Amino acid sequence: MCGIVGYIGANAIKKTLLDGLKELEYRGYDSAGLAVMQGGKIDSFKAAGKLSALVDKTADFDPKGFAVGIAHTRWATHGKPTEINAHPHGGAHSAVVHNGIIENYQTLKNDLIANGTKFLSQTDTEVIVHLYESFLLQNKDPFKAFELTIKAIDGAYAILLIDETSPSTIFFAKKGSPLQIGEGVSGRYFASSDAPLVGVCENAIYLEDGSWGYANDREAKIFVGDAPISPRKKPLPLTKSAARKEGFRFFMEKEIYEQSKVAGETLTSRLNADSARLDELPEDFLTGVISLRLCACGTSYHAAIASSYVFERLAKIEARCEIASEFRYRDPLLRANELFVVISQSGETADTLEALKMAKKGGLKTLAICNVDNSSIAREADATILTRAGIEKGVASTKAFATQMIVLWLLALYIAQKSGAIGKDKLAQEIAALRRVPSALAIKSERHDLIRRLSKRYLHGHGFFFIGRDIFYPLALEGALKLKEISYLHAEGYPAGEMKHGPIALADSELFTIALTSETLLKEKTRSNVEELIARDSTLLAIGGDRFALADDHLPIDERDHPILEFFEMTTVIQLLALEIAVRLGNDVDMPRNLAKSVTVE
Ligand code: M6R
Repeated sequence: MCGIVGYIGANAIKKTLLDGLKELEYRGYDSAGLAVMQGGKIDSFKAAGKLSALVDKTADFDPKGFAVGIAHTRWATHGKPTEINAHPHGGAHSAVVHNGIIENYQTLKNDLIANGTKFLSQTDTEVIVHLYESFLLQNKDPFKAFELTIKAIDGAYAILLIDETSPSTIFFAKKGSPLQIGEGVSGRYFASSDAPLVGVCENAIYLEDGSWGYANDREAKIFVGDAPISPRKKPLPLTKSAARKEGFRFFMEKEIYEQSKVAGETLTSRLNADSARLDELPEDFLTGVISLRLCACGTSYHAAIASSYVFERLAKIEARCEIASEFRYRDPLLRANELFVVISQSGETADTLEALKMAKKGGLKTLAICNVDNSSIAREADATILTRAGIEKGVASTKAFATQMIVLWLLALYIAQKSGAIGKDKLAQEIAALRRVPSALAIKSERHDLIRRLSKRYLHGHGFFFIGRDIFYPLALEGALKLKEISYLHAEGYPAGEMKHGPIALADSELFTIALTSETLLKEKTRSNVEELIARDSTLLAIGGDRFALADDHLPIDERDHPILEFFEMTTVIQLLALEIAVRLGNDVDMPRNLAKSVTVE
C-alpha cells in the first residue's frame, strides 16, 4: 500500500527511482510518480495506472550526474486514482510524497485556501507541501519550516519532501507508516520496505515513529521530538535472488510451491527430540499468563482462529480471537493475565499495530508472530517469533499463512509443555507430526494438473461456499478469501454445520460448494452437512480423503492421520484452486485490483 522511494547520489537517478518503485509494486498501487531535483530545479512526472505508464511518461527525461529524487506508488484513499491525485504533489518550489493519512487535512486545507492557496488534487497529501511553503515564507528557514509542518499534521505518515531552495536535501518524517534509510556506495536511499534497498545497500536505519530530519550527500540528521538521535544500522540481505519468480508464472505460485521449504526453515532449531523450543521467549515469559487474546487481520486472522482450536485442545488455554479493526474501537476489556498475541505477515498493518499498542498501554504482555524482522509490529511487541517465510510478494498471502500456523502450533505445544497440559506420549506424537509438515506442504505435480483441469468448471455460478468444521472452518474462510481476492468471484467461508441455519436457501446447481472433508475430525458430521447440500443440488467439489458417491468433483488429500497435516495439505489445494481459477479468468494474480500487500492505513 503506497510505496516510497528516495535517492541522493550520482547513479542514474531515474532508473534508480523506477527500479525502487518496481520493487514496491507488490504492495499494491493504482498510480505512480517521481520528482527529480538537479541544479536547484525540480522535474516532476506522474501517471495513473501501472508503472509502465510512468516509464513511458519519463522516456525522454534523462538526468545525468548528482541529483536528488523522490518517487511514489499510490493506493488511493482520498480522491480517485487519477494522474492529478498521484504523488509527488508540488507547490511553487517543492514536492512531496506521502504514505499514510493526514487526519486533520481538511482543517489545514481550509486555512490554506482562506489564505489564498490553490489546491489541484483531492488528496490529503497536498496540504503538506503548501503548509511547508507557507511556513517557509514566514521564517525563511527550510529546516524550521519542515519541523513546523510535521508538528502541524496529525495522522499516520511517511513523508519525503524536496525543495529547490535546499538543492541537495531530502526532508523526511515517519509516524505510523514504514520508512527506512539505506546507505550504499552510490548514495543514500529511502524506501518503505527492504525490497528496494536489498542489493544496493549493506545496511539500513529503520526509523522509529516520531522520527524526522533531513539527509543530503554528506549526512543524515535524525531527530525524535527536538532531540537529535543516532539510530543503529541493521544489516540487509545481500542479494535479491529470493525476490525473483524463478520460472513460475506468478509470485503467488512460486510462494505456494515454496511452502514446503520455508516450513523447514520455520521449524529449524525449534524442535528438540521430544519437545518444542522457542528461544525467542524469555524463560519466565508465560509466568502468570492464563489466557490468550489473538489479534490480526485478513489471512493472519484466519490463522488466529485456526490456532485457537489448537491452543484450547492441546494446551488447554483459553484463546479468544479479535479482528484488529474491531478490537480498536469497541472498548475491549483487558485482563492483566492475558497474553496479547498479534499475527502479521508484514508487521506494518495499521490496525494490528494500533491494537498492539492499545494492549501494551492496557498493561498486557505482548507477543508478535511476524514475518518481517525490524517491522513496526516486531519492534513494538515485548517478544517476537519470526515465521521465516522469506519475502512474500504475492498480494494474496500464502506461505505467510502456512508458517504462521506452524509457529502457532509450536507455541501451543510450548505452552502445553510449560503448564503440563499435555502428556509425554501425546507431545511426542505432536512433535513427530510437526516434523512432517514440510512433506504435507509439498506440491505434487499430478495434484496441480488435476486442479488446473477442474478449475475450468468453476468460473461462473452465483457464488462459492467453502465449508468445513473445527480447524477446517477457518481454512474454509481462508479458501474463500483467496478465491475472492484474485478471481473477483463471490465466495464465503462457513462452518459446515451452520449452512442449514440460513445459507442453504441459496443452494442450487449454480451454487458451488467447496467442502473440506476431514478424515480425522468430525468426519461423519461434516459428511452429513455436505449431503444436505447435495440433496439441494448444489454443485460439490469435495477436498478430502474419501470420495463422496455424489460429489461432482473430488480432490483427494493424502494426509489421513493428523488433522493439522490434513489442514496443511488442504491449504495448498485451496490456494492452487484460487490461482488456477483466477488465471483462467485472465486476472493479474500478483496484483489483484483494489488490494494492497501491506495495509498501512486504517
Ligand atoms: O501483513 P498482515 O498479515 O498483517 O496483513 C493482514 C491482511 O491485510 C492480509 O492477510 C490480507 O488479508 C491478504 N491480502 C490476504 O491474502
